[in-house]
Amino acid sequence: LIRRENYAPFPWLVPETHLAFTLGLEETLVVATLTLERNPAADPSPAIRLDGDGISPRSVAIDGEPAGDWWLDDGDLVITLPAESHTLRIETVISPTANSQLMGLYASNGMLCTQCEAEGFRRITFFPDRPDVLSTYTVRMEGPKDAFPVLLSNGNKVAEGGEGAVHWAEWHDPWPKPSYLFALVAGNLVARKDSFTTMNGRHVDLAIWVRGEDLPRTGHAMESLKKSMRWDEEVFGREYDLDVFNIVAVGDFNMGAMENKGLNVFNTKYVLADPETATDGDYDGIEGVIAHEYFHNWSGNRVTCRDWFQLSLKEGFTVLRDQLFSQDMQGEAVKRIEDVRLLRGVQFPEDSGPLAHPIRPDSFREISNFYTPTIYNKGAEVIRMMRTMAGPERFRRGTDLYFERHDGEAATCEDFIRAMEEGAALDLAQMRLWYSQAGTPKVDVTLAHDGETATLRLRQTVPPTPGQPDKQPMPIPLRLALFDRESGRHRGEELIVLAGEEETFSWSGFAERPILSINRGFSAPVTIERDMPADDLLFLAAHDDDPFARYEAMQELVLGHLVAAVGDGLSDQAIEAGRAAIGEALRAVLNDPGIDDAMRGELMMLPSQTYIAEALLVADPARIHAERESLKAWLARALESDLLPLYERTSGAVAGMDPAARGARKVRTQVLVFLAAGNPDRAAQIAAAQYDGARTMTDRQGALMVLTGLSAPQRTHALIDFYNRYQGNALVIDKWFSLQASSLHPAAIEHVKALAHHADFTLRNPNRVRSLYMAFAGNPHAFHAASGEGYRMIADLIIALDPINAQTAARFVTPLGRWRRIEPGRAALMRAELERIAGQPGLSRDTFEQVSRSLG
Ligand code: ARG
Ligand code: ZN
Repeated sequence: LIRRENYAPFPWLVPETHLAFTLGLEETLVVATLTLERNPAADPSPAIRLDGDGISPRSVAIDGEPAGDWWLDDGDLVITLPAESHTLRIETVISPTANSQLMGLYASNGMLCTQCEAEGFRRITFFPDRPDVLSTYTVRMEGPKDAFPVLLSNGNKVAEGGEGAVHWAEWHDPWPKPSYLFALVAGNLVARKDSFTTMNGRHVDLAIWVRGEDLPRTGHAMESLKKSMRWDEEVFGREYDLDVFNIVAVGDFNMGAMENKGLNVFNTKYVLADPETATDGDYDGIEGVIAHEYFHNWSGNRVTCRDWFQLSLKEGFTVLRDQLFSQDMQGEAVKRIEDVRLLRGVQFPEDSGPLAHPIRPDSFREISNFYTPTIYNKGAEVIRMMRTMAGPERFRRGTDLYFERHDGEAATCEDFIRAMEEGAALDLAQMRLWYSQAGTPKVDVTLAHDGETATLRLRQTVPPTPGQPDKQPMPIPLRLALFDRESGRHRGEELIVLAGEEETFSWSGFAERPILSINRGFSAPVTIERDMPADDLLFLAAHDDDPFARYEAMQELVLGHLVAAVGDGLSDQAIEAGRAAIGEALRAVLNDPGIDDAMRGELMMLPSQTYIAEALLVADPARIHAERESLKAWLARALESDLLPLYERTSGAVAGMDPAARGARKVRTQVLVFLAAGNPDRAAQIAAAQYDGARTMTDRQGALMVLTGLSAPQRTHALIDFYNRYQGNALVIDKWFSLQASSLHPAAIEHVKALAHHADFTLRNPNRVRSLYMAFAGNPHAFHAASGEGYRMIADLIIALDPINAQTAARFVTPLGRWRRIEPGRAALMRAELERIAGQPGLSRDTFEQVSRSLG
């Protein structure tokens, strides 16, 4: 176990790193030449320990002489070094083709590429592979011209040459960086090129490198990049700092993308798009991830992390930056709703389960396991709260001070907080608890009314989490408004901060009890518990001027009903009354001319099964599924005469990427989702027609999603057509796997079993693995099959994938780790699978850590 409190600076500085690669897919020779100087700020050490993982040195030389005194210890290279400064030269030979972990240097589709964050550089050469050792890199690479016509690394290309079959290039990155930001790419690639002129007139050559056939699908990524560069100048005052910015798309990639200095490497999923093959959601994903990686150039690269416990320093902040960017590009309301849905869908469950950890963890075994929704998304929410309390201008002063003060440094979360305190003039003393305490706070809300006075009583509890039984109250900023029943208006929004365990706030001048709209815009990442009359929720759903609060009121209305229905069961009367209220609210949403279709689409979505399960202490997945489906079917039947005309209206706007067309597509699919539950035959007809006539992937995928869930004859036809139409396009075939694995079809589990044997399925490609098995694990009715078969399939997958790609395998432990919150019968089956995994010999550190934490 590695502990945050044990941090000590590295005893050596590495001012210069020179890397020479002789490239080959089977075998690559790496010659690393490091200049070393004793670090005056660290305890002196007679030796240097360089991290290594699965490599051995072919030669070690110190100051030009073969070194005598070196040895390997637990994979690391230890060398005794007598003097104050040295030059160290190490040769290693690695095999990119054999690298199935996709960490370090690996082969993908005939090209070579790298992924070094967090600890992949040590699979390439021996090095102090930790983010606080910053070095200036020069990289020379040499290889066959035919296999690797394009040779890329960080920074600027400073020289190139070569005659005959072999050529070389040399790259120099003037900005000192930690090893996790190193990157190299060599392959047969073509580029979409463009340029950008920065606010101070620097000309930057932009290039997005892909396989030849993918070139036509890079336009949206390039536009997104240019928008990101401009936006970061305008909103955060951040300017790009090199003459080139390269992006490479890779088909085999563990995560979304990587912010290597001047050479971002991307999962193809977050680069390639055209309307025929990518959905509107894919377009948004690309815009957001391109922005995210670009923004890391300042929040991550210019200011990096001291150690991996500080990961949220760069990730939480950069997620907030990309969220704000996307809000500006696409509209604030819908983006905020999407971000909150994601947070509740994945981070809240993490925070209430065995893998809960603070956004700044105290310990870990394998850092790859901490690239989590908590570090990323809750991390973003914590900084967003600071922004809410300071307001945008003061927040900007805080970030300016942070960047100015820590430029070129490896910083800590504490450094960020301090810069924010001074720059934004905030007192964040208590706010620091958000960095150290895990768990989603719950706020109990009651509003009393007496005479002319309304009194709000708030009470917070921060639940116990693993290793943290007792919690202190945290500052919770809540935007709120009190609506006057008479006028239907409020007197202006206020921001209050609940700092103690319990506080009251009162307002006078309310002849009648007002209607409370609280946590508007989701100003704090907490759950609100309150007993709100359905009429008041209906009012907010229809009239709240904060769009998020409208969405929230709809969710609350449905959630309250379903939780009650699943829990103790409701009387027939209560069921009827609940459904009628929801039906009334939904009818208003379907017909309200005052909202755009993008927002309408959001308001139409019922809370997910995961979110419903979160609201219950112990969940019975089958009950949740059944109640949610039956509500959906009831609503669809009750509102059919509103849904069908809505479908008609939105079918007018077909193609195009303008907001109106996009909104129409979203609503269209939501209508189909309802119809599929209420009137499956009609839904199958309409969906089949939509499928056949689709001019965008959004429409085609939406129709196919609905058909895949039905036992209609049109289902098979559409699935076969889709496969044949897009065969060879990996990203679209991923969709084909996903749709079947996540479908509502009663035989989904059988479909997944068959798909695992499909010729196009492979454990070697993370996108393909996720497209089948993540979709399946996120499909409650299939994953939670009462027989336990779903759990067994995921456990089998983990066991098979672990030796091939441990990082990806470990991610599949999470769904099984939910066992404590599932009814006892299934819980025992889930636990048994975790134990079976734990009993496997030779388990990776990644999977071992997740399984043992999950067993508790
Ligand atoms: N820093 C990258 C990003 O968020 C994520 C890379 C994580 N990679 C990994 N193998 N854990 O943009
Ligand atoms: Zn990131």
